Amino acid sequence: MTDVAVAGGGLIGLSVAWRAAQRGLSVSVVDDAPGSGASSAAAGMLAPVTEVSYGEEALLRLCLASLERYPAFVAEVERAGGVPVELRTVGTLVVGFDEDDMRQLDALHRYQQELGLSAERLTPRETRRREPSLTPRVRGGLAVSGDHSVDGRALHAALSTAAAAAGVRFVRERIADVEVSGGRAAGLWTTAGTLVPADVVVLAMGAWSATLPSVGALPVRPVKGQILRMAGAADLLEGTVRALVRGRHVYLVPYAGDGLIVGATVEDRGFDAAVTAGGVHDLLHDAIEVVPGVTELELVETLARWRPGTADNAPVLGPSELPGLVLATGHHRNGVLLTPITGDLIGELLGTGTLPELAAPFSVDRFGGR
Ligand code: GLY
Repeated sequence: MTDVAVAGGGLIGLSVAWRAAQRGLSVSVVDDAPGSGASSAAAGMLAPVTEVSYGEEALLRLCLASLERYPAFVAEVERAGGVPVELRTVGTLVVGFDEDDMRQLDALHRYQQELGLSAERLTPRETRRREPSLTPRVRGGLAVSGDHSVDGRALHAALSTAAAAAGVRFVRERIADVEVSGGRAAGLWTTAGTLVPADVVVLAMGAWSATLPSVGALPVRPVKGQILRMAGAADLLEGTVRALVRGRHVYLVPYAGDGLIVGATVEDRGFDAAVTAGGVHDLLHDAIEVVPGVTELELVETLARWRPGTADNAPVLGPSELPGLVLATGHHRNGVLLTPITGDLIGELLGTGTLPELAAPFSVDRFGGR
């Protein structure tokens, strides 16, 4: 019997497991392929200011709080995991191509200013001075010095080692269901017929969170994203470039020395895993429009994964209707960014029985049920 069984070994599940283990709880993570879902596809942008949207102020507060914790979190994970994690703190540029793109950029800038967020409007010349690889056809930009990025796969590797060193046990089997006994969650069943009994179960299965029979309907759905990984980009970009290319969004995120991630499509197609010709075409076309030097790079990987989407784009954190079942899911576009704060908040709930006030807006109750 363990104190806590965590369903899902992606970034969110591992951060919760690690924090719970640090509080002296015995923890098992159940996952047949930890980190192979959204964590393996994420570009690792830590971008609450460039991704801010109208009506999402509570989410913004949570994202900013998590970003603030990032440097200390990465340093601690690196120390405990013995694996370097690349936290890139050179900021983010947002650029536009035509008049409509620039109108959208200016609207974004006004909203950032209303919220007191730091962002600087740049002329085309200033934009290209920051990132000389940008096409001269860029019409202007926004510099957001506080939005960073991290190598998500390196972070997952370091967190796995840190969690194991803290005593977390890994059960590498596919999750079949939550064990319910006496009206409360009491462990996890795997498809191999293994029961991992536990006092508390944490559901951190990302896009798959609503697929377990005993959990039933949860307001989490898969939102497909296709991304490209490239190599040979050592001197191409300093930091993340996000662009509106005649109304279409694309981002380019440098990582790991000479790597570059180009993303991402946003598609409501259930668990469709296809990397499509159209998806790859649009990403490559737009990335080359923004940074012509992308033509020269080696395309090393294409993949499609699923963000755990919710109706208001915010995560679902805390107790569920089923006693003993805690939710840590629905992180949608912000899974990497919200990894430190989710571990801290859910770790505190598991350790003390109290969920910190910061998590209150993210209860599943806001959807009028589970
Ligand atoms: N946060 C980037 C994405 O979801 O594509």
